[in-house]
Amino acid sequence: MTKDTFQLIIAGKLLSISHDETILQCAYRHEILLKYHCASGHCGKCKIKLISGNVILRHSGGISKEDIDLGYILTCCSTPISHVEI
Ligand code: FES
Repeated sequence: MTKDTFQLIIAGKLLSISHDETILQCAYRHEILLKYHCASGHCGKCKIKLISGNVILRHSGGISKEDIDLGYILTCCSTPISHVEI
């Protein structure tokens, strides 16, 4: 594991994720079929609770500030900056 690679835990399954890969891309690369629709930060379909860790969230209006404050992210436009669990 390099400094640009983190651990991603989805439903207890441990994966390796690159700093420039979205959580949704990583999940599908490992055949974990998370729900999504637009894959571009608009629709909010991929919203999920972040259990631990930190991400950069580059959305296009698909999530409210209130949901972000409550710890939700959009998997389609979130890349990790630490180990992450969802
Ligand atoms: S799939 Fe639409 S916001 Fe992520």
